[in-house]
Parts: sequence; C-alpha cells; structure tokens
Amino acid sequence: MLDRGIVGGYTKLGYLSRRPGWTGDRADPPAGALHGRTALVTGASSGLGEATAIGLARLGARVHLLVRDADKGEQIRRRVTGAVPGAAPRVEVCDVGELADVRRFASDLLARVPELHLLVHNAGLLPDQRRETSEGNELTLAVHVLGPHLLTALLRPALAAAGNAALAGRSNGATHAGGDSRVLFVSSGGMYAQPLKDDDPQYREGRYNGTAAYARTKRMQVALAGEWARELAGTGISVHALHPGWAATPGITGSLPGFARVVGPLLRTPEQGADTAVWLAGAPARAIGTGQFWHDRAPRPAHYFPHTRETPAQRARFWAQVQRLAPRHDPATA
Ligand SMILES: NC(=O)c1ccc[n+]([C@@H]2O[C@H](COP(=O)([O-])OP(=O)(O)OC[C@H]3O[C@@H](n4cnc5c(N)ncnc54)[C@H](OP(=O)(O)O)[C@@H]3O)[C@@H](O)[C@H]2O)c1
Repeated sequence: MLDRGIVGGYTKLGYLSRRPGWTGDRADPPAGALHGRTALVTGASSGLGEATAIGLARLGARVHLLVRDADKGEQIRRRVTGAVPGAAPRVEVCDVGELADVRRFASDLLARVPELHLLVHNAGLLPDQRRETSEGNELTLAVHVLGPHLLTALLRPALAAAGNAALAGRSNGATHAGGDSRVLFVSSGGMYAQPLKDDDPQYREGRYNGTAAYARTKRMQVALAGEWARELAGTGISVHALHPGWAATPGITGSLPGFARVVGPLLRTPEQGADTAVWLAGAPARAIGTGQFWHDRAPRPAHYFPHTRETPAQRARFWAQVQRLAPRHDPATA
C-alpha cells in the first residue's frame, strides 16, 4: 500500500515506518557479516554509491570503489576510511558506459582479484538531452544496461570462484551470512511507468526525453537482472534488482532540482537509500533467493500496470540485443 502511494513509500516516511518491522531475516546483518568478502561498487564517487561503499565496509567487506575520475575516487577513499577506520578501500577507474574501458578494467581486475563476492551496479545518470558514447550507444543505455551487462559477463569467473568457494564451505568469510556471491542492479521506482523497449533500445525514435530514457533503461535493468538470474541459476551467484526510494544525492539535486525542492525534507538520506543494497549484501541467502526486485528489504512486484508487462518473446529479444550491443570482445579486434 505504501509503495502504491509512492510519496509515502519512497520517501523517508516509508523507510522509517517499515524499519521497526525488520526482524529475523530482515534484521540488520550482524557486525562482521561481510568479513573476508570482496565487493565492487560502481558509481562510488557520489550519493548512494558512497553510502553503499561505507555500509559494506562497516560490515567488514574489502571494497573496491569504481569511479571514472581518479581525484574524486581519492576523496571518496578518504571519506570511507574516515567513516570506517581500518577499512582499506581501493579506487578503480573505469567509465562504465565505454565498453572498451569496461573490457580493459575487467581484465585488469580479474588479474588482481580472483574471487569477487559482490558486484553492485549503482552508476547512473539522467541526461537532459540525447547523448551517445564514443562507441555510438545512447548514454543511459550504455551506463545502466550495456556496461553493467558486460561487466557481469566478464567478471563472472571471479564471481563464480567466490560462489563456488562459499558453496564448498572453504570461504574465509566464515562469519558472513550468505554462502554465495551476489550481483545487484540499482534500478529506480521510475521504471514502473515504462514497458521494456525491445524495439528501440537506443531511443532513436520519437522526441528524446531524458526522464523517459532513464526510466526505460531502469526497466531494462530489472529485466536484465531477471535474465542474469536465470543464466546463473545453480552457479552460486545470485542476482537482484532493487530500488532505493528517493534519496537526497547530488544526482537528484543536480538532475531534478524542482523535484528535490518539492520533496525536500522528505527525501531519504543517502544511507537510507543505500539500505536495501547493503542489506541484500549481508542477508542470509535463503532470505533473498535470486531474481527478485527489492525495496526496503522486501520483494516487490516488477509491474503495477498491465501495459508495462513484457512477453517472454520480448525478454528473449531484449537479452539477445544486449549480447549483440555489448559483446565480450571488441568487435574491431575480434
Ligand atoms: N537518489 C535517488 O533518489 C535514486 C532513486 C532511484 C534510483 N537511483 C539510482 O541510484 C544510483 C545512484 O544514484 P545517485 O542518486 O547516488 O546519483 P549520483 O549522486 O549522481 O551518483 C551517480 C554515480 O554514478 C556515476 N556515474 C555516472 N556515469 C558513469 C559512468 N559512465 N561510469 C562510471 N560511473 C558513472 C557518477 O560518477 P561521477 O561522480 O563521475 O559523475 C556517480 O558516482 C543510480 O543508478 C540511480 O539511477 C537513485
């Protein structure tokens, strides 16, 4: 009911009214729940990414902060160590929207990090006009969908190694609550308004609208998480999509200043917005399964309106498009 009322559910009112009910499997993960686990958070230079990195580090994770600007990364690294003394976060530089850079970064990370327990696809943006990456992909599609898809595919060996180690009971993270590795897609409640656009993924048709592009690609993230969950079933890697509600971050105040002014004091803090991602990282595996869409520590419907429901054929077409648009090998050199 709160979710359908949107303002009640997405603002801090939703968070504060639900929080007292978070007991049992939904309780805060215990101290040290992520000890011995390695996490990569994209978009860690700001807002929810920074709050997620701090939340994970507090639970004992070794956190890799993926940023696209090394100087910003250094500032965030200091903020994380300031918030969590003893944490040793590492800064990783990559532009998630540039597929060649994703390939370079993934290959470099795999050489250094053989086991990855958590991958949080948090990087995001809401552009005011249609822009393309240097590789010709529409920007929100590249950053929200193609880059995360490719990164998941390329880091699969490290995710599988962590998942297998945990399944075999030889993970050094003896205190962690999970027993698997996890991939999280940070989507948005805005996706509820949009169907899966499998016929025009690059938004070439019609008049471009940044908010619609954002919501379309956030819908795609939920479908993508579902497809990856299917692909990885039984491998020890679970996949989850979530929406954070509305939180006061540079992204919200910069891209939607009018909205931020109106909702103002009701916006969640970044920590409240990051709560479900941090909880999903540390919650017992049995409590979260795989392939669901989460908000405030509970699975939520992926659709509220009949017109947004896609068919299995549309999902298959979307999945095929993503593989084609984000190939594992650079088409120029393959
Ligand atoms: N805040 C909310 O209420 C809300 C609601 C629903 C969903 N979300 C989702 O939550 C996520 C975080 O949002 P936020 O509010 O924290 O926004 P934010 O403050 O603008 O942070 C976005 C982050 O994404 C990074 N990023 C953007 N493009 C990138 C690229 N090409 N490669 C690598 N990193 C890139 C940014 O890096 P730079 O610092 O270099 O720009 C920044 O660190 C987004 O996916 C957003 O869609 C947020």
